[in-house]
Amino acid sequence: MATLLQAIRGFNDILPPSSQAWAFFEQLIRQHAELYAYQEVRLPLLEKTELFVRGVGTTTDIVEKEIYTFLDRNGDSLALRPEGTAGCVRAALEHGLLHNQLQRFWYMGPMFRHERPQAGRYRQFYQVGFEAFGMADPSLDAELIVMTASLWRKLGLLPHLTLQINSLGSLEARAQYRQLLIVYFEQHVALLDAESQARLYKNPLRILDSKNIKLAALIQAAPKLLDHLDAESLAHFNALQGILNAAGIAFVINPCLVRGLDYYGRTVFEWVSADLGAQGTVCAGGRYDGLVEQLGGKATPACGFAMGVERLLLLLAQKALLPVVAKIDIYLISDSPQAKVQALLVAEQLRSELQLNVQCDCTTANLKSQFKRADKSGATWAIIFSVGELKTATMSVKALRKEEPQQQLTLADSVGFFRQQYSR
Ligand code: HAM
Repeated sequence: MATLLQAIRGFNDILPPSSQAWAFFEQLIRQHAELYAYQEVRLPLLEKTELFVRGVGTTTDIVEKEIYTFLDRNGDSLALRPEGTAGCVRAALEHGLLHNQLQRFWYMGPMFRHERPQAGRYRQFYQVGFEAFGMADPSLDAELIVMTASLWRKLGLLPHLTLQINSLGSLEARAQYRQLLIVYFEQHVALLDAESQARLYKNPLRILDSKNIKLAALIQAAPKLLDHLDAESLAHFNALQGILNAAGIAFVINPCLVRGLDYYGRTVFEWVSADLGAQGTVCAGGRYDGLVEQLGGKATPACGFAMGVERLLLLLAQKALLPVVAKIDIYLISDSPQAKVQALLVAEQLRSELQLNVQCDCTTANLKSQFKRADKSGATWAIIFSVGELKTATMSVKALRKEEPQQQLTLADSVGFFRQQYSR
């Protein structure tokens, strides 16, 4: 036998029944986006590598270690998108959608990062992202956060998630703070692990994000960017908190929240679950007022976030919050080719007139095996078509989930009978 091929590590198949949970989630997102007047964009999975180098930042983990890049047949360096924000800005600029316009976009789809796979962390994973352009006001940051909170409430997840917020201030405030941090960590350089030492001069703010518990006390005692914010950013951050309080959304200020992508300034936030181990962040984002200009456009304020679909579905499954999967109402079985034709015709009628979920047994197995399959399918009813009954234009109906005698109905009565059953 030929050897079996397997999927690439960190790349998942989404199969039934979990594909039904995905469909449920996607449908809910679509409705939610409409409620907040966000419009869908569908963007390419491949972009020029340069977009992410310029957009996400050369010293980020994403660009340094995780991005999937290759030279295509023309020798151009291309990348599988590791995130959606840079591509969204590229597309909006390319199509002139940011020219003196306010925009609210959302997208859903796979992203790719060469990370070490573990529960909740994959190399192909799905994000749902929301991005808004042209609005510098903190009410936009608040609206985005309120929108996520409302989604968690709908899903029943709100009690299981904590909102963390922080402000990264202006570019200038960050540059000054960067120097303070370097001086602070230089005094303790021997205590830093190899990763943090490597970040010291390249991207010292990322040291604050270290997961190494041995560094926790050192990081806790480090100077805080919040104490060195520029006046405008402070006012912006205070206004955001005021709106969140007015909306009744609980939050924790985490001064060490810096995010792993370079485009953020001012607001950053994450929704975190304590039930998903190390991969607890289910949704994250913030303001990126400098990115549009950095990618060649006119300075345009922007803010957004993305949520990890796998992590949210893991949490929903863990908390038993997923809806019951779509079920089969009626399973049709038949004892001969002629009866099978009749079964197919009745099935079509039940689907189109009553919107019932109907499955036909399209095999030539004997009635006993077909009955077993009907039972296993979870269907509520079985209808049996036999050559004998064809002559009298009748069929037999059996309730599969309750003790009731089998009944004989005329074909003409089939729709009426099930209409009555399902109208109760
Ligand atoms: P991010 O924090 O890199 O931000 O990713 C957002 C979310 O995607 C994470 O919070 C997590 O739920 C999920 N995620 C990230 N990596 C993985 C992975 N390897 N496996 C499974 N899930 C993962 C961004 O990507 C920004 N573009 C978000 C944003 C949009 N900021 C502004 N607008």
